[in-house]
Amino acid sequence: MAAIRRSTALAHQLLVQSSRKILRSQKCCYGNFLPDKAYIGGAWVPASSGATFPVLNPANGIEIGIVPDMETSDVQTAITKAHTAFKTWKKTTAKERHDLLLKWYKLIMDNQEELAKLLTAEMGKPLVEAMGEIAYGASFLQWFAEEAKRCYGDVIPAPTGNKRLVVIKQPVGVAAMITPWNFPSAMITRKVGAALAAGCTTVVKPAEDTPYSALALCELADRAGIPAGVINVVTCSRKNASAVGKLLCQDPLISKLSFTGSTTTGKILLEQSAGTVKRVSMELGGNAAFIVFDSANVDLAVQGAMASKFRASGQTCVCANRLLVQSGIHDEFVDKFSKAVRKLVVGDGFDSDTTQGPLINVRAVEKVESHIDDAVSMGAKVVCGGQRHQLGGSFFQPTVMTGVSEDMLACREETFGPLAPVVKFDTEEEALAIANGTRVGLAGYFFSNDISQIWRVAEELEVGMVGINDGLISSEVAPFGGVKESGLGREGSRYGIDEYLNLKNLCFGNL
Ligand code: SIN
Repeated sequence: MAAIRRSTALAHQLLVQSSRKILRSQKCCYGNFLPDKAYIGGAWVPASSGATFPVLNPANGIEIGIVPDMETSDVQTAITKAHTAFKTWKKTTAKERHDLLLKWYKLIMDNQEELAKLLTAEMGKPLVEAMGEIAYGASFLQWFAEEAKRCYGDVIPAPTGNKRLVVIKQPVGVAAMITPWNFPSAMITRKVGAALAAGCTTVVKPAEDTPYSALALCELADRAGIPAGVINVVTCSRKNASAVGKLLCQDPLISKLSFTGSTTTGKILLEQSAGTVKRVSMELGGNAAFIVFDSANVDLAVQGAMASKFRASGQTCVCANRLLVQSGIHDEFVDKFSKAVRKLVVGDGFDSDTTQGPLINVRAVEKVESHIDDAVSMGAKVVCGGQRHQLGGSFFQPTVMTGVSEDMLACREETFGPLAPVVKFDTEEEALAIANGTRVGLAGYFFSNDISQIWRVAEELEVGMVGINDGLISSEVAPFGGVKESGLGREGSRYGIDEYLNLKNLCFGNL
């Protein structure tokens, strides 16, 4: 055991040494996007207290840089700036907003590689995935640039002859956004793109682990000509996060709160928003069931499971959390799936053959371990992985477990890590009961070649999004969001902009 610990420590030390060298050269690549200031009212500003906090690379713990540790007084300034900017931004034409969003989109794509490197440095996901996230994130700006021009109202047949009813759509006002570390870029553009298109202004609090991607987006928004105060990004450490979050929920100048993160935090924010009756969108935790029926194409199901389970090392809200596999194909699926999992390459996201980066921190690793320990203590079997990776730090081996049952933690909670627990089932009814036996309902997946079963199961799953013979469901054109305790509202798609618009009924009388 001591020998294993020594070799893990050595592997980690070597990783840190080589990362320091790589970091120096990498900084030249994304150094344009490393401000040590936040972005308020179109200016780069420090915290009024002068406090800062470090941003660390999760692959090696090396400091990337420092950003302002803002308090509520700084955030109040950002809210006031956004409120002032709203007075003019709401009067811009849809075409003007379209043009600015498109310019921003193009600048992001022109800087895709640099932004992706920055994202890998602060979040850890492999560079190819980071490149994908930048393009995914930018696609929301392109999409909502178009949607800005389609905020049509309605003419409603009036109940009496001397009236005419017209419904117009208006921006809700200042929108606050609290965004997560697992998609440091795309979760900002998915919210801000919709808000700006609708005519709202914004105050964004990015996750303390990944503020640089947010600040880089501000730099490019500024270059695109988006006016001062329309986008404000306030950075703060974990220490100040709850006070800042509370202010964003309670300030009467903010009309709308959009949050992506855990269900537990979402519930707190909902309660705090009640006092000012804010519009809210909540994209919260999931516990996605990934069901493979006997009729499925097993190779396709394995491919889908790999994509859904191991995206961002299992750290997305829509990652398959529980794999339910029907008894007739269970052994074949487990065999093929575990072979594919063994081929995954864990490492620093900057290494070209890495497919699995580190988890965000050691707390995340401990959660994966606790789910494995709990399952094993109740009789589950580890087929592959199951341990911290020899690179140490927050690297964990991609893991497959069989003999899992729905009472185990790995099925009851969202693991948010590279653990695939497989539950064997016999009937469709049984699979649906397990899949729906949870208070959350974000995404669900199933693989089947039986058309009647496909419709039945798609309709029965209590989730907001269903992947049918497909493990990747997210895109800018499709509504993203959940049911039950997985959230409120939808992001992306033609529905996403509605979250930032009020309907106003104009009743023309006595005509
Ligand atoms: C999330 O994990 O919050 C977002 C995932 C996605 O957009 O696909």
